[in-house]
Amino acid sequence: MAKRDQTSFACQACGAVYTRWQGKCDACGAWNTIAEEAAAVAQAVPAAQRAGRKGRAVALESLEGAGKPAPRLVCGIGELDRVAGGGFVPGSVLLIGGDPGIGKSTLLVQASAALARRGLKVVYVSGEEAVDQVRLRAQRLGLAQSPVGLAAETNAENIIATLAAGPPVHLAVIDSIQTMWSDSVESAPGTVTQVRTSAQLLVRYAKQTGACVILVGHVTKDGQIAGPRVVEHMVDAVFSFEGDGGHQFRILRAQKNRFGPTDEIGVFEMTGAGLSEVPNPSELFLSNRDAGAPGTAVFAGMEGTRPVLVEIQALVAPSSLGTPRRAVVGWDPARLSMVLAVLDARCGVRLGGHDVYLNVAGGFRIAEPAADLAVAAALVSALTGAPLPADAVYFGEASLTGAVRPVAQGPARLKEAAKLGFAQAVAPTGGAEGVDGIAVTPVGSLAALVAQIAARAPRRAPMREAQDSGGRPGLPQRPARADPEAGQGYESEGQIGR
Ligand code: TYD
Ligand code: MG
Repeated sequence: MAKRDQTSFACQACGAVYTRWQGKCDACGAWNTIAEEAAAVAQAVPAAQRAGRKGRAVALESLEGAGKPAPRLVCGIGELDRVAGGGFVPGSVLLIGGDPGIGKSTLLVQASAALARRGLKVVYVSGEEAVDQVRLRAQRLGLAQSPVGLAAETNAENIIATLAAGPPVHLAVIDSIQTMWSDSVESAPGTVTQVRTSAQLLVRYAKQTGACVILVGHVTKDGQIAGPRVVEHMVDAVFSFEGDGGHQFRILRAQKNRFGPTDEIGVFEMTGAGLSEVPNPSELFLSNRDAGAPGTAVFAGMEGTRPVLVEIQALVAPSSLGTPRRAVVGWDPARLSMVLAVLDARCGVRLGGHDVYLNVAGGFRIAEPAADLAVAAALVSALTGAPLPADAVYFGEASLTGAVRPVAQGPARLKEAAKLGFAQAVAPTGGAEGVDGIAVTPVGSLAALVAQIAARAPRRAPMREAQDSGGRPGLPQRPARADPEAGQGYESEGQIGR
């Protein structure tokens, strides 16, 4: 144990190791995250490996392989199984991250109970709660009868010994990896070295025995799985469980998955009796919609293989600030700036003197560029006061030239819209046609979209106001085009409220 006295400094956020303390981590840029730790890595390596022995050649196998892979562990919670790529893979390790209180433990207790009731051996190890507390939650969820093995333990070696005893374990849940510690290293529990070493032990256990191990990970304020980014590289799949306190639904998203797609989402609703699946999220996101109000557009989006319809709300108000406000919830602010710039430069819709607020209803988060058209429609509708047709959906990507580009999976989006009772869709030219029950209005450019909406604009209110204040009449009668005159019309409309 010559290395015992040696210390090193490790960043608690990303795991980078330094020989001296410093205030800022060069690797991840975090401040005050570097803490002194025993030089554990050297100690954790078994003596045989340190002795510099010669390696042993292993037999190579062909890709075809003779053995049949073990069947996936399907727990019957459809949303969870789908995100996992069709069930958990035996011998794999999965990390589930999420804010405290979002429902990670609830979800995993439910999944454990479901698998246990299918006759599999499931062990749930809680490092945060006492066995009684886990039991209490299971009772509340009506799952107390399920034959899940419970333990409250934080020592990784003890956990592995427990799992190894008795019949083979199919699924082990470790809640949470941040509370685990290993005898083989000397740093305090919760430090990066401990978390990494414990995770390594559990990963090795999973690979050796073919058990599926699920690790729960906490998330820092900026949304990263706390401490061990290193753990993300060691596991086979990383899921994040998201949602915000104000809304009852939760979304399980795959960020990395060696055995399935990464763009799938699972939608759950937190109820008094635990998490329940939401098989049709569009219905949830569109419930209580104020369809007749200006500034709202329904976006036909895709999340993985599944279409999801969400409402996009925009509010445009004259600004009293030198630099107008741009506030976005649920979408990329840079993307909003781009759409505003394209509307300004290519369609003459001037929003430079207006505060712009954009919200994706229900707390949903959209990552697709296909939302550009719906956002533009909501913005123009908000500016002109013209409500969009209540039975229309929008999708399409805007390019910087002002053209609207086709997006993938048009027919799937249209089918979902038709299923939910929408009768029209505004979509890129050549994107998708021929879905029963839905009329597609193709738009080739944002200017064409602006013209379409402007044609619906109420003329009374803005006109009267404009005349009262001696201004020019509001909207242009001609369809807006990418010419300066069409722009003039919108500029004057923009100034009416002043
Ligand atoms: P929990 O699973 O403990 O969260 P995590 O493990 O991610 O920290 O979930 C706790 C929250 O879920 C808590 O705020 C209460 C809520 N909840 C319900 O609304 N209904 C329920 O049936 C349960 C068990 C929890
Ligand atoms: Mg928990």
